[in-house]
Amino acid sequence: MSEFLLPNEKDARVRSRNYRGEIIRDAVRLTESQKILGNGLSYCVNTYGCQANVRDGEVICGILEEMGFTATEEMSMADLIILNTCAIRENAENKVVGELGYLQSYKRRNPNLIVGMCGCMAQEPQMARKIVEKYPIVDLMFGTHNIYRLPALLENIMKNDVRSIEVLSRQGNIYEGLPTIRSSRHKAFVNIMDGCDKFCTYCIVPYTRGQQRSRLMQDVLDECRQLTENGYREITLIGQNVNAYGKDLDEGYDFADLLNRVADIGTERIRFTTSHPWDFTDAMVDAIAQRENIMPFIHLPLQSGNDEILKKMGRRYTREQYLELYDKIVSRVKDVAVSTDIIVGFPNETHEQFIDTLKVVDYCRYDNAYSFIFSPRESTPAARMEDRVPIEEKKERLALLNQKLGEYSKMHNKQCEGKVFDVLIDGVSKTDSTVMCGYTRQQKLVNFRSEKGRVGDIINVRITEGMKNSLNGVDVSDERADNE
Ligand code: 5AD
Ligand code: SF4
Repeated sequence: MSEFLLPNEKDARVRSRNYRGEIIRDAVRLTESQKILGNGLSYCVNTYGCQANVRDGEVICGILEEMGFTATEEMSMADLIILNTCAIRENAENKVVGELGYLQSYKRRNPNLIVGMCGCMAQEPQMARKIVEKYPIVDLMFGTHNIYRLPALLENIMKNDVRSIEVLSRQGNIYEGLPTIRSSRHKAFVNIMDGCDKFCTYCIVPYTRGQQRSRLMQDVLDECRQLTENGYREITLIGQNVNAYGKDLDEGYDFADLLNRVADIGTERIRFTTSHPWDFTDAMVDAIAQRENIMPFIHLPLQSGNDEILKKMGRRYTREQYLELYDKIVSRVKDVAVSTDIIVGFPNETHEQFIDTLKVVDYCRYDNAYSFIFSPRESTPAARMEDRVPIEEKKERLALLNQKLGEYSKMHNKQCEGKVFDVLIDGVSKTDSTVMCGYTRQQKLVNFRSEKGRVGDIINVRITEGMKNSLNGVDVSDERADNE
C-alpha cells in the first residue's frame, strides 16, 4: 500500500500552540480536462453524520458538478458513489460497512462504477487500512482535511485506472469559497470553525477533524449576508463547539460577538450548534435573549449528571455548574426550548451514577434529547478504560432514560396544544400537497395541513395535538399569532 497515503494516530493528536490555519481562497481551480471529466456521468453522495458532515457533502456535490457530473438520487444508476461517513459511534460505521457489502453487487453489474469513501471514518487509521485492504471496490478515499483534492484524485482514477487513496492526519488550512450545492433553498448551514480541541475522553472528533480553526468573522458574515440576499430564511452556525469560536484567532472577538453581528444582518432565523456547557458565556445568553432573530432553542449536551463520570469524560464542568447555566438560560430566554445529549454506560458507570443523570433529567425536563450507549472509539482514552458493566445493563439504563425523556418531550408538546407558532415550511408530502412539515422557532417538528403554504414560507400554525416527537397542527395564517 506504499503508494497510498493513510492517516496515523500520532499526527492526528498533535496540537500546536498558536496554530493558525492559512486561509486558502482558491483551493479548487479546475484544469480544462477536470472541467469535463464528469460529462455524461452521474453521481450520488450519501451523507451519514452531523451538520459538519452535511456541509462537507454540499462541498463535494459542488466540486463534482463543476467537473461536469450530474446528481442522481437513484444510487443504482450512478457512475460515482461517494460515502461521506461518520465515526461517532460504532453503529454509524456499521451502516457504512454494510453499504460497502451492498455496493459490491453494483460493481459487479457495472465495472466502471467508481466507489469513494470520505469523512470521519476515513480519518481513523485502523478503519482506513481495513477498508483499503478488505474492500478493493473502494477506488477513492480522502479525508476531512483534503476535500479540495477530489478533482485530482478522480482524474487519477479515471485516466490511469488506479485507486486514489489520500488521507491526511494533520488538519489542513481554512478553505474559503469552495464550490457548493446547498441541499435547501431556504435553510443553510454556515460552518464557522473546523476541528475541536476539547478532547472529551469518549470522543473521536478531535482526532478525525483536527485542531480547531475558526474562520475569520468577515468571511462568515459575507457568507451569511450573501445567503440572506439570496432568500435564505434560516442560517445555522455550525462548529464542533461554537462557544470556542475565535479563541484560536487573535482578533479580539468571540462567539457572542459573531452572534450579534450575524443577527445585525437581519436573517429571519439564526441558530447555532453545538455549544459546550463549559464556555457558554453570559454575553451569549444575552444575545440569545435579546435578539429577536436568534432562535430560542439551545442544544446543551449534558452527557452525564454525575460529577465523577463527568470528570472521567473530561467535560470540565460539574453537575452544579451545568444546572446553574441551565437556570440562567431558562430564566433569561423567553419561551426557550432546551435539548441535550446523554451517554449511558460510560466505562464502569455505577447504577447510582446513572441515577444522578436521571435526576438532572428530572430537573431540566428537556424538550428533546438524544441518548446513546457508550461506544468505545479507536484512539480515545475512554476506549482503554476498564468496563465491567454488562451490555444488557446498559441497554436497560438506556430504556429507562428514554422512557423519562419521552415523557418530558411529550409534556412539552402537550403544552403547545391550542397555541399558534411560526413555522418555517420544510417539506410537502409527495402524495398530498396540502400535507406539510416544518419547524417552530423552538425547533419543534410540526406536521400540518395548509392550502396555501409553500416550502420556504413562514406561516402560523395552530397546534392540535402534541405527541412525543412531533406536533400536529393546522395553518391559521389568516388569524393573528398569539403565542410568539
Ligand atoms: N459513544 C456514545 N456516544 C457518543 N457521543 C460522542 N461520542 C460517543 C461515544 N463514543 C455522543 C455525545 C455527543 C453526541 C454527538 O454523540 O453525546 O454529544
Ligand atoms: Fe460524525 Fe463527529 Fe465526524 Fe460529525 S464530526 S461526522 S458526528 S464523527
